[in-house]
Amino acid sequence: MEFEFILVEKEVAPYVALIRLNRPKELNALNLGLMLELKAAFAALDEDDTVRAIVLTGNDRAFAAGADIKQMAGKGAIDMLKIDQFSTWDAIRKTKKPIVAAVSGFALGGGCELVMHCDMIIASDTAKFGQPEINIGVMPGAGGTQRLTKAVGKALAMEMVLTGKFISAEEAAAAGLINRVVPEALYLEEAIKLAADIATRSPIAVQLAKESVLKAFDSHLQEGLYFERKNFYMLFATEDQKEGMNAFVEKRKAEFKGK
Ligand code: CAA
Repeated sequence: MEFEFILVEKEVAPYVALIRLNRPKELNALNLGLMLELKAAFAALDEDDTVRAIVLTGNDRAFAAGADIKQMAGKGAIDMLKIDQFSTWDAIRKTKKPIVAAVSGFALGGGCELVMHCDMIIASDTAKFGQPEINIGVMPGAGGTQRLTKAVGKALAMEMVLTGKFISAEEAAAAGLINRVVPEALYLEEAIKLAADIATRSPIAVQLAKESVLKAFDSHLQEGLYFERKNFYMLFATEDQKEGMNAFVEKRKAEFKGK
């Protein structure tokens, strides 16, 4: 499979495929093109009988530093509603095969949310997780307010979402956000090992078991996600969103006015 923003490799272990986010200069910022490629890759691997488990990774410095702020900065609320960028994420959520995230460096904003779309998470000891959207005048829009809260509980989720603070891999493991932390040299290998272990099981049982575990979350999640999404798009009607994103692009401190 040939893509511009991601790399896909099959048989990194028996029945295991690897997807690597590949915009290293932009810290794997998730632009629309990348997300469409990711959707296509997951759909193709889901249909492929030679694949039973998928590993999703970035590089040592960054899993992904969030949705592409430069691509969103000038958009209005109506643009955001029309583009509906997060509908692509729904397709990823529907992947039937298990996905293991191998995370090193930054997993921020949409990067952290993409990690939380995966079923299990192996992190390097350099990984940092955060939802810093508040610093650019918006809020999480791809599931962060819902999935993070369900994973780590209200108190920590509230602090992360309202202050944008990052947590370390150790803190993420202690809070139940990830499966485990390993030295940086081993995170990808460990994730592939976990995927390979699962790939030795019955693919049908694995699929139905995954579906069932996710059901535990789904009952009230959709309502929360749609609520969150509308609010995210609405924020593009504010001056603060323009100020926050422009300040990021211009490398200066944002001045928010509450407008
Ligand atoms: N979008 C677009 N470009 C980004 C980016 C993003 N989310 N994150 C980093 N980049 C770019 C930078 O602009 C920079 O590009 P240039 O070299 O052209 O200037 C390059 O990647 C390297 O980044 P830095 O120079 O900033 O690297 P650093 O080590 O000094 O800082 C960082 C790293 C703390 C991760 C910082 O880049 C940062 O704060 N990034 C933004 C994080 C963020 O706010 N994420 C949330 C985005 S909104 C979102 O995700 C909404 C949602 O819910 C889906």
